[in-house]
Amino acid sequence: MLFRSAFALVVAAVAASYPGVLAQEPNCARNYTVVAGDTCNLIAAKTNTSTYQLESVNADKVNADCSNLAIGEPLCLGIVGQDCDVVHVVEAGDSCDAIAEAAGTTVDILLANNPNVNSDCTNIGVGEVLCTANEIIVVNSTASTV
Ligand SMILES: *[C@@H]1O[C@H](CO)[C@@H](O)[C@H](O)[C@H]1NC(C)=O
Ligand SMILES: *[C@@H]1O[C@H](CO)[C@@H](O)[C@H](O)[C@H]1NC(C)=O
Ligand SMILES: *[C@@H]1O[C@H](CO)[C@@H](O)[C@H](O)[C@H]1NC(C)=O
Repeated sequence: MLFRSAFALVVAAVAASYPGVLAQEPNCARNYTVVAGDTCNLIAAKTNTSTYQLESVNADKVNADCSNLAIGEPLCLGIVGQDCDVVHVVEAGDSCDAIAEAAGTTVDILLANNPNVNSDCTNIGVGEVLCTANEIIVVNSTASTV
């Protein structure tokens, strides 16, 4: 009984902290709602979104190390016209050369689409999701979405 009312309180508190839950970005190409167990890399992988794009579009909500996701929180996966949905999940041993080649794109385009990756491609991490589109898709930062 106590547990049940405590649970109801938590749910109410979570819902109350997202008054705009139905008012997601109007120019959002793909809406998403955070579920239990999500991390930025997992959301990106299961929705075919790059980790950079996810964090960039939601920079007003998600902190730098993506440690503040909350169940029920609405996120936007990509902005209309700036939405890369062709991706690769980084595996151990991956290099930008190999990722670009396998995806039929170039390292230059890969780096342009993933501005968080350094030019030597030494800072990619296992589980990170990269945009592997074969054309440059400009991802505007959160400034344009708020
Ligand atoms: C995302 O949510 C916004 C606001 O509710 C809505 O206007 C838009 O149509 C939604 N986009 C998609 C692709 O469902
Ligand atoms: C992600 O992309 C792959 C390869 O194109 C496709 O098979 C899969 O259905 C896509 N998943 C989603 C959620 O769009
Ligand atoms: C990015 O956002 C800024 C500020 O809203 C806007 O001026 C600019 O035109 C946008 N760029 C693109 C490519 O959408």
